Amino acid sequence: MSEKLIEVVDSAGIVRLTISRPKALNALNSDVLAELDSVLSDLEARDNLRAVLITGAGEKAFVAGADIAEMREKSPEQARDFARQALRTLKRLETLPVPTVALVNGFCLGGGCELALACDWAVASDNAIFGQPEVLLGVIPGFGGTQRLPRRVGPAMALDLCTTGRKIDAGEALRIGLVNRVMPQAELEAYAEELARQLGGNGPQSVRAAKQAIHDGMDQDLDSALALETALFAFCFAGEEQTEGMSAFVEKRKPNF
Ligand code: CAA
Repeated sequence: MSEKLIEVVDSAGIVRLTISRPKALNALNSDVLAELDSVLSDLEARDNLRAVLITGAGEKAFVAGADIAEMREKSPEQARDFARQALRTLKRLETLPVPTVALVNGFCLGGGCELALACDWAVASDNAIFGQPEVLLGVIPGFGGTQRLPRRVGPAMALDLCTTGRKIDAGEALRIGLVNRVMPQAELEAYAEELARQLGGNGPQSVRAAKQAIHDGMDQDLDSALALETALFAFCFAGEEQTEGMSAFVEKRKPNF
């Protein structure tokens, strides 16, 4: 049997995915994308899912990009199909109903940066390096980078990164809002565990509602988005979580979600 390219570890609904092709710095080829797609499709069907953390195997790279060796000989039609395959998979990741977090443990370039951008937020180790270096290879980002990067960091910074192809360190990534937090690489593992505990301890229905309000609201005008928030806020009062959460506060105990 061929080795798995995506390792899946599930701990009480907190699922950790590790892209595992360390010899190629976890570069995304069509096999990795197909396996990721299949894993995500299984996760979509689960109602006890609480959060998804995604990282790269080894200490050197999160993902060093789309696989250049595989792309090298592609025709325009094959390149379009490859990009579409990746876009479909990253859309699946983006639209999972639970929080998704990229744990960026090293090089996060090209398609790797685009993978991180399809997650709700990102945490980086202090040795992480980010960039959209596609122009150095004679192409542009093809896995959503020209669209998700400006939405995350603003169009001027996205243009800077996509037209110079320059690489930035974790500190600059934090400053421009590409990542939420930077920490020593040795602490990333402990942080992942703490995050899993934190997300696992919160009310699953309200966490999903918060994600839905932010994601769906971003695509709407403010009044419609505020109406969506009101609807989801009211919806929270229809479940047991609100009763438990507020009763626990009043009774000075921890909620049991
Ligand atoms: N695709 C395929 N293989 C890759 C790869 C990639 N994106 N990145 C690294 N590798 C492979 C290398 O070819 C090398 O393999 P061999 O040992 O068989 O030669 C192995 O991983 C280790 O890499 P290096 O020897 O290059 O390691 P390094 O420490 O000297 O450099 C690096 C690390 C700076 C990340 C360098 O590997 C690099 O520049 N990689 C390419 C980064 C890049 O350009 N990414 C964008 C790809 S295009 C893209 O993603 C388009 C898109 O949007 C769809």
